[in-house]
Amino acid sequence: MKVDVLLGLQWGDEGKGKIVDVLTPKYDIIARFQGGPNAGHTLEFEGIKHVLHTIPSGIFHSEVTNIIGNGVVIDPVVFQKEIEKLAPFSMDIRKNLLISKKAHLILPTHRLLDAASEAAKGTNKIGSTLKGIGPTYMDKTGRNGLRVGDIFSPKFQEKYNQLVEKHEGILKHHEGFEYNLAEMEKPFFEGIELIRSFTCIDSEQFLNSALKNGSKILAEGAQGTMLDIDFGTYPFVTSSNTVTAGTCTGLGVAPTKIGSVIGIFKAYCTRVGSGPFPTELNCADGEKIRKEGNEFGSTTGRPRRCGWIDLPALKYAIMINGVTELAMMKADVLGVFETIKVCTHYKINGEIVDYLPFDIDGLDIEPIYIELKGWNCDLTQLDSIENAPQALKDYITYLEKELEVPITTVSVGPDRKQTHSNRK
Ligand code: GDP
Ligand code: IMO
Ligand code: MG
Repeated sequence: MKVDVLLGLQWGDEGKGKIVDVLTPKYDIIARFQGGPNAGHTLEFEGIKHVLHTIPSGIFHSEVTNIIGNGVVIDPVVFQKEIEKLAPFSMDIRKNLLISKKAHLILPTHRLLDAASEAAKGTNKIGSTLKGIGPTYMDKTGRNGLRVGDIFSPKFQEKYNQLVEKHEGILKHHEGFEYNLAEMEKPFFEGIELIRSFTCIDSEQFLNSALKNGSKILAEGAQGTMLDIDFGTYPFVTSSNTVTAGTCTGLGVAPTKIGSVIGIFKAYCTRVGSGPFPTELNCADGEKIRKEGNEFGSTTGRPRRCGWIDLPALKYAIMINGVTELAMMKADVLGVFETIKVCTHYKINGEIVDYLPFDIDGLDIEPIYIELKGWNCDLTQLDSIENAPQALKDYITYLEKELEVPITTVSVGPDRKQTHSNRK
């Protein structure tokens, strides 16, 4: 068997959580491979809305195993809150949630370092979610990090103290940056205790055995391709590989074991945090999308920046990820427009290009648009794509032709049921 991958093609928040939840009954295992509590994945069903940060989005299906892979960074404090929020659902969560021993831990001082670093950057700040993601991945690559497996060692406290000492040494250089570490440590160590009560495994062994035994695995991405540390709009990116290749390193599965790659995108585009966004609409249309799409961050509540769909960026993301099929989200949101714009090219220094240049930050990019007829109606009650308005069908056909990948799923509302798919 192979590992299918579902990941974001834009700047995150494409609707990954919703589609993973919808697809879960077709799989035996759902595994997160990167990111951490910077992610906010929303699921809606039976009138309940749930936002997950670290826990994979297959968790509401008790017969499916959910794995937090080695490429994920875990904040025990956030993890504990997530577990507490699941309590009313009376699930036997210790049975269907397994954690990689190689996943790295976010310490309270990582969060402090994130905040201090952002404050020091001033107007150049990344717009980080301030969850400690960057400093934790820095300690991972710097070979200083603490991993989940370490919490079972008698030397854990000693290792923790050593790393905290190092962090406090750095924090001293941030003049005027105040904090109360003792206050932050209490919930941290409570969270560590909670993680100890879960089954922590060598997830790469578990997943490869499962593949051999014929299990179906879906890897769930976090963030989006344009936030990838290598291929995103650097430096305004996150600190992990959000692309398909990240699945291999973040779960320990070989590239030859990757099956379908489901690329997910909104029928328009959003971004939260700083950084370039060629099709951003700083006008009434952008406001209209934000209002209609309820575009406010699932993790931070920040208003998301909104704009028209960006084909050069999408084509780039499809190429980097080897996308084999597409899921188009939030088609209902564009129902308020009579006409819809699609960015097909960029004009940079008078030259028209259809690719993403090296560094789009600070470049004077003019998006070149074509205008398409909107469907201009409510799609939320749509029962099938066959019954969709012709303008939506035309939009889908146009995008499939441009992107050269079939759109197999179309989403017309936040609920599980508001999903139309012709996936096999
Ligand atoms: P993720 O990070 O990719 O999982 O996406 P988020 O959960 O951060 O953001 C997606 C938001 O859009 C959530 O509030 C979802 O409930 C909502 N959503 C998902 N699909 C649709 C859709 O087709 N239409 C509408 N209107 N909302 C959707
Ligand atoms: P999901 O999985 C949208 C953005 C932040 C910031 C940049 C770096 O819900 O799609 P970080 O905290 O990682 O150092 O922030 O990345 N960002 C996201 N934007 N969705 C996310 O996750 C994001 N995770 C990080 O806003 O610009
Ligand atoms: Mg999100």
